[in-house]
Amino acid sequence: PRLEPFREALVFPPKLAGSDLELRAASSMHRFHPDLAPSPSLGYGGMDYLGPTIEAHVEQSLTLRYANDITTHPLAADVDSRLHGLSDNDRTQVPTSLHLHGGVTAPQYDGNPELIQRPGEGLVHEFGNAPGNGNPSGSGNHWYHDHAMGMTRLNVYAGLAGMYLLRDNYDTGTAGNPLGLPSGEFELPLILQDKVFTSDGRQSVRSTWTTPQGAWDPATPGDVGVVNGVVWPRIEVARGLYRLRVLNAASYSVWNLYFGNRMRFWVIGSESGLLAASAPTDHVRLSPGERVDLLVDFGLLEPGTSVELRNDEPVPLAVAQRGTQVMPLFARFDVSSAKGFTGSVPQQLSSAAPPPDVPDVVRNLTIMQLSRPSSYPSITMSLNNLRYTDSDIELPRQGTVEQWNLINVTTEPHPIHLHLVTFRVLGRQSINTPAYTAAYPLPDLGTRWTPSADDFVTSPMRAPEVWETGAKDTVIVDANSITRIIVRFPTADELGFDPDATFPRAAVVDPAMKEPAMEHSGHGGGSGDLQGYVWHCHMLDHEDHDMMLRYRLVT
Ligand code: C2O
Ligand code: CU
Repeated sequence: PRLEPFREALVFPPKLAGSDLELRAASSMHRFHPDLAPSPSLGYGGMDYLGPTIEAHVEQSLTLRYANDITTHPLAADVDSRLHGLSDNDRTQVPTSLHLHGGVTAPQYDGNPELIQRPGEGLVHEFGNAPGNGNPSGSGNHWYHDHAMGMTRLNVYAGLAGMYLLRDNYDTGTAGNPLGLPSGEFELPLILQDKVFTSDGRQSVRSTWTTPQGAWDPATPGDVGVVNGVVWPRIEVARGLYRLRVLNAASYSVWNLYFGNRMRFWVIGSESGLLAASAPTDHVRLSPGERVDLLVDFGLLEPGTSVELRNDEPVPLAVAQRGTQVMPLFARFDVSSAKGFTGSVPQQLSSAAPPPDVPDVVRNLTIMQLSRPSSYPSITMSLNNLRYTDSDIELPRQGTVEQWNLINVTTEPHPIHLHLVTFRVLGRQSINTPAYTAAYPLPDLGTRWTPSADDFVTSPMRAPEVWETGAKDTVIVDANSITRIIVRFPTADELGFDPDATFPRAAVVDPAMKEPAMEHSGHGGGSGDLQGYVWHCHMLDHEDHDMMLRYRLVT
C-alpha cells in the first residue's frame, strides 16, 4: 500500500524507573498508520508495540522480572522450524530471551540465546548497571530486545525492543546536569526501523516474495520508515537545542542519516557514554544495533519551517538486484514558534581516560557468507567458518587487552556486536578479497578459517568516523575490508560477578508464579549447562542463521 507520510505525530514510549521492575512480553494489536488496519504485534510492559524506556542510573542495580505472556505470534507463519533445531511447536509456544544490549550483565541474566522462556515462564534478571569498561563517563545509550535462538529477527520485528537509558552524574539524571544537556521534553528517544506492510495492514518480514513463507531470508529490508512504531511521523519541535537518542533497530538495513537541508548537528555520545568532546557532522551512518547521542539545534530554523530526517545509504548489490531501493525517509521535524531549550552545545563532555592501545593479543576473525546448495538453508552467514554450535570459540583472558581484526569477505556490511564489553574502533582498511580468499583454501564448515589478511590490504588505515570515537559495543564492518577494534576484557573482581560461571538452562520461573515452571529440555534439542557470552552480526536476519558465536572470558 502507498502510505502518506507525516499523517501522525511521533509518540514516545512511557518511562519506567525503579529498582524492581516487571516487564511482560505479550501479544497485541498495533496501528502503524491511520490508513492501515491494526496489525498483530508484540510489546513489552503493556505496550502494543515496543516497550517502555527504562531509566537507570550507573551503579544502581535493578531487578527486572521478565515474563513471557505471548499467546499468538504475529509472524508465526514465518518461523523457520528448520533453523537451529526449532520445531513447529515454536510457532505457538514462542521462545523468548530478554537481552540488555550494552549492559555489563552477569552471564545468567544476559539473554543467552539458549536460555529461553516460553509462554508462562519468565526470568528474574539482575542488572548491575556498571559503567562499560573503558568508558569514562559511565552512561549508556542502551536498549533491550529479544534474543531467542533462531527467533530473534521475528520477535524483535514484531515489537520486542525498547530503550534503556543508563544515566550518570554527567548526564541529565541526578547531579544537576553539569553539562547543560537538553532534558525532559527536549530529549527524544528515536527507535528507527524499516518495515513492509501487507495490503491489509499487517507488518510483514517478506520484502521479497521469492523466498517462500516459513523460509529464512538473509535480507529483509523494508520500504517504509517507522519511528517509535509510527510510520513516517511528524515531530513538532520548539526553537532550541534537542538531544536525540537514535537507535537503529532494523533487521537488516544500514542507514546514512542526514537532515534534508544538510544542516550541521553534533555527536555527543556513542553506544556507551559520552564522547570526550562534541563533534560536528552533517550525517551519521548507523547499522542495526548501533546508537548515537546527538544534539540538534532547531533554533537555527525559522518558525513554521520543516526539515526531514532522511537516509541515502545505498542498498547492497545483492539486495538491489532483487529490486530493493533505498528507503529515503524517516520523519519530519516541524519547527514551531515556541521558545525551546536555550542552552548551547557544550564543547568538552567527559575527561576521557586514554583507552588502552597496546594489545596483549591480536586475533583475526572472519565474516563470511557460505553457499551450500545441498543443505538447507543453502546460504549460511558465518563467523570464522563456524556455526553457533561449534566449540572452537574465542577464549580471551580476563584482564587482558585484545585487538580484533574483523575481516569481511562478503559483499555487504555487517554490524559486529560483542556482549558484556565495550571497545574502541582503531580504524579500517580495504583488502583484496579475491587474493586473500584464494591464498587460504576454505575447509569444511565447522573448521576455523581465520587467516591474517594483513598481506592483502590495499589502503592505508582510515580513522574511525566522528560518531565512532567513543566507547562502542557494535561496529560496522564494511564489505571487503578489515575493521580493527581494541577491547579490554574485565576481570571477575572488576565486574563483581564471575563472567565465566556456568548456569543451568532449565531454572526458569514466571516471577508472578510461586512455583517454578515445568522444566524443559532446552532449545534446539540442547541440554545441560550454559556458559559465556555471544558476539554476532547484529543484522537480525544474520544472527538467526548463524552469524553468532559464543565466547568465554577465562582466567
Ligand atoms: Cu542487541 Cu546480542 O544483541
Ligand atoms: Cu551480517
